[in-house]
Amino acid sequence: EAELIHMFKGIPFTTRSSPELLKSLDAFDAREDDVLLVSYPKSGTHWLAGVITKLYDTQVTITSPIEFGDISKLEELNNLSSKRIIPTHLDYNMLPPNFKNKKCKMIYISRNPKDTAVSMYHYYRDNPNLPTIDTWTAFFDLFLKGNVVCGSWFDHFLSWEEHEDDKNILFLFYEDMKKDLPTVVKKITLFLSLNVSEKDIQEICQKSSFSEMKSDTEKENSDPSHTVCALTSNRNLIFRKGAVGDWKNHFTPKQNRRFEEIFNEKMKLSKMAQGFIYEF
Ligand code: A3P
Repeated sequence: EAELIHMFKGIPFTTRSSPELLKSLDAFDAREDDVLLVSYPKSGTHWLAGVITKLYDTQVTITSPIEFGDISKLEELNNLSSKRIIPTHLDYNMLPPNFKNKKCKMIYISRNPKDTAVSMYHYYRDNPNLPTIDTWTAFFDLFLKGNVVCGSWFDHFLSWEEHEDDKNILFLFYEDMKKDLPTVVKKITLFLSLNVSEKDIQEICQKSSFSEMKSDTEKENSDPSHTVCALTSNRNLIFRKGAVGDWKNHFTPKQNRRFEEIFNEKMKLSKMAQGFIYEF
């Protein structure tokens, strides 16, 4: 089971991201109109991807994550003639420099790390591509140490937050989408310069509810090309509960204290994360 994971630049990746691909990412040729959909795993990537693809009336392709696959990936993306929406779980420092130089639009979605940890725990348990985890307690420790796929949540968030003022990056929060999806969608359309009517926005939001998306996935029989997560091609593993605050059903009071201690220490210099975990 050790062979499910390999390290690249100090970060654990599954073997579904080949070392050759990871090494060649720096040479990736971005296009000015590429849109990157960035997240730490389990932050609402599929939800956001579902919304975004519905906003275009022109041909767009949501690709599999840039770090997912083997060396043939770069050519496959090069050969795509339509506009590309490219998901990724990479932290900012590992992103192909071309995306930065060309100032491609990027949307970073994040979620209360307590809920992210719980969601990831269940994902580990259900996903054959990830190592076996025996207990929530064991996973909790691994998560805090950053000893999980894609590395530390804290480092990931901080690497992106450093670019908070970049005009080409939009920061979104899962909890905001839960609270008021239409407002978030409006923000996305402005950011992507898309003209979408209020009525269409309402309709898109209805179609993007947890229950609609879950049942769509069950109907469509899991098309592997629809994955936007580098850790599975099985969409049925994605729609678990879709709630804010599920951490309360998993964290012991002691774990909560420890989590907040580490959060406060690691996120001391973070502006965006202040109050982030206490609100939900
Ligand atoms: P839970 O495991 O807490 O249910 P990602 O797409 O980044 O892998 O994130 C998956 C998480 O987003 C899962 O969280 C999943 O249920 C939730 N999710 C997916 N679609 C959603 C939707 N339409 N509304 C709310 N949450 C959704």
